[in-house]
Amino acid sequence: MKLQNQTAIITGATSGMGAAIAKLFAREGARVVVNGRNPERGEKVASEIQEENGSAVFVPSDISAGEGNSLLVEETLKAFGGIDIVVANAGFLGLGRITEISAETWHKTMDTNLNSIYYLLRSAIPEMQKQPRGNIIVNGSIAAFKSFPNHAAYCASKGALVPLIKQIAMDYGPHIRANLICPGPIDTPLIRDSAKAFPDPDRAVADAADATLLKRLGTPEDVAGAALFLASDDSSFITGASITVDGGIMSK
Ligand SMILES: NC(=O)c1ccc[n+]([C@@H]2O[C@H](COP(=O)([O-])OP(=O)(O)OC[C@H]3O[C@@H](n4cnc5c(N)ncnc54)[C@H](O)[C@@H]3O)[C@@H](O)[C@H]2O)c1
Repeated sequence: MKLQNQTAIITGATSGMGAAIAKLFAREGARVVVNGRNPERGEKVASEIQEENGSAVFVPSDISAGEGNSLLVEETLKAFGGIDIVVANAGFLGLGRITEISAETWHKTMDTNLNSIYYLLRSAIPEMQKQPRGNIIVNGSIAAFKSFPNHAAYCASKGALVPLIKQIAMDYGPHIRANLICPGPIDTPLIRDSAKAFPDPDRAVADAADATLLKRLGTPEDVAGAALFLASDDSSFITGASITVDGGIMSK
């Protein structure tokens, strides 16, 4: 039990990596706040955790706007009384080159992937400072380091997280540790959306798997394992880091 007696908020936890992180953290003893926008999927993840004798509540809120984040923090405090861990995982993939992407899609991508971090942490950090320690994990992407066709807004939003995580680690350490996970191709609904940017989407997913040194897509559980490492004392001397979980793509 690596996260006993700790409360963790996980945004975008109604599917993919967020759901896997919520389930793993609960198995490790954390009280988990499952955030998302779809009540049916959110309640399902929370009840699956409860069925395994874990502790979880679903808090519906849209984290792309300031109010959604302050509501999430308020509801977490009502449910569990404090916040020890924040996993900012929710993400949106708005596709298009600069000359084609609409302003709406550009801003939605920035609001979901970057501005939400500002809004969520602005509310959550003062609460984490009341706890013995705090731990922040943000889910970025290898798109922070590498371009992909039609991914202008997504790459820019994820790229900004690399310096931001260092800044958070500096400004709020040593009380709070903060690290960024940069996944490669992971088998979730989002990668299927990403593949639509390519002429042959099925081929693009197969190519993404083939591009890894491990010759497969990652699983949500692969990323959940990295998140648990970063949330637990196993990584107690790691902060401000951007860690790739990409099957080796960035090592080529
Ligand atoms: N799948 C990949 O290959 C891949 C690769 C690199 C990075 N990522 C990143 O990993 C994270 C998780 O994505 P995933 O692949 O598990 O995809 P996913 O689509 O399964 O999960 C993303 C979740 O975020 C939620 N979400 C989106 N906007 C939200 C909002 N405004 N408010 C609340 N919830 C919101 C979605 O509803 C969904 O539950 C994202 O930040 C994504 O950018 C994914």
